[in-house]
Amino acid sequence: MNTSSVTLAERSAFTEEQLRVLGYDIYYPSIGGELGDPFCVNRRYAINMATNNYLGLANDPRIKEAYIDGIYKYGTSMCATPVAGGYTDQFEAVEAALAPFIGVERLLLYPSCYQANNGLFSALATEDDLVLFDRGAHSSLIQGILPVGCAKYPFAHNDPDALEYLLRKKTGYAHVFVVTESVFSTEGSIAPFAEINALCKRYGATPVVDDSHGIGVLGAHGGGILDHCGITDYDGLYTTSLGKAIANNCGVVGGPRRVIDYMRYLSSHLVYSTAVAPCILSGLLRTLDILELEYRDRIERVYRYRDTIRAALRAAGFTVVDGAAPINSIVAGPSEETVRISKALMQRGVLTTPFVFPSVPKNKGRVRMIAGANLAESTIAYVCTALDGIHHNLYDNALVA
Ligand SMILES: Cc1ncc(COP(=O)(O)O)c(C=O)c1O
Repeated sequence: MNTSSVTLAERSAFTEEQLRVLGYDIYYPSIGGELGDPFCVNRRYAINMATNNYLGLANDPRIKEAYIDGIYKYGTSMCATPVAGGYTDQFEAVEAALAPFIGVERLLLYPSCYQANNGLFSALATEDDLVLFDRGAHSSLIQGILPVGCAKYPFAHNDPDALEYLLRKKTGYAHVFVVTESVFSTEGSIAPFAEINALCKRYGATPVVDDSHGIGVLGAHGGGILDHCGITDYDGLYTTSLGKAIANNCGVVGGPRRVIDYMRYLSSHLVYSTAVAPCILSGLLRTLDILELEYRDRIERVYRYRDTIRAALRAAGFTVVDGAAPINSIVAGPSEETVRISKALMQRGVLTTPFVFPSVPKNKGRVRMIAGANLAESTIAYVCTALDGIHHNLYDNALVA
């Protein structure tokens, strides 16, 4: 007797249409070396504008060396959860350097920010609570909130008035969380977080900001959104991925000492998952040292490249979002068009990220380009020249035909 009416093979079947529109080749590119300029993708050399290697540190020889030293001293793995097997003695140094860099009192290191975003809500929220979240919030935040079973409402993207309306209207909950990202990476917008934080203070809510695309990108010192907003007394919660501009791996939850100490024992995504590998702690320490010396030069280059490419995209005829973060986001429309633009760029040797539903709303596809500080000026010049030809081939030729 069959107890299931649907097989897993049926459930996981892509529709013919999805396959035709997306193709398998555009996602999960096969990378044949480090994130250099150029880099090897799908067995050819190309320019990498698809990763979040903003500061160009992913193949920095000094950080590689720190990883190797970490492996020699501490081995490859902790082979246990942190609560049982601990972290290496580098952890105190990482916390001592990273917490003030970000602007939080204490922090925890999770294997990833996806896990951090899930672990935060599972430890701190209850079904009697209310979560108000920016409509564009990252999937890992939403997937963290859903299992709590609490009330939840989206507010209009980056709109403090819409948030305040909900804060006024929705009352009677045990605790209220307000969730947003700092930089929304599909379009490069930056949250008005100073205002959101002030609203939270006024209404007794706890802000939760995911700074995955803000750390190493925003602020005078690269500390991220709190640095950017000049918030020096933050008493909300903070998460970030260290696998983007910081070019390492793992996720952070930061916040007031008391809350973090509680999560240390009661956040199951931390407590029941193998501790972050020792070489990552070594790499992080080295990266923070480098940022102290080189952040300004590197980030200046990142914003300059963004502006040059944005101007070239617009001159070629593309519509580009006016985001303040160092991200260029081409407004591409339906999935098919989004993939077509991204494929055309790849044919000219530029790897980009095509965002289609469900990563963005239906028919609001975007092609994202991030130009890291490791790219040469001549590489940027090549991309700008290529863009004009690509737009012409995609649209003007099509019209003639
Ligand atoms: C906004 C945001 N939050 C969280 C994550 C997850 O971070 P990690 O890769 O460290 O799990 C990502 C990565 O895609 C992200 O963009």
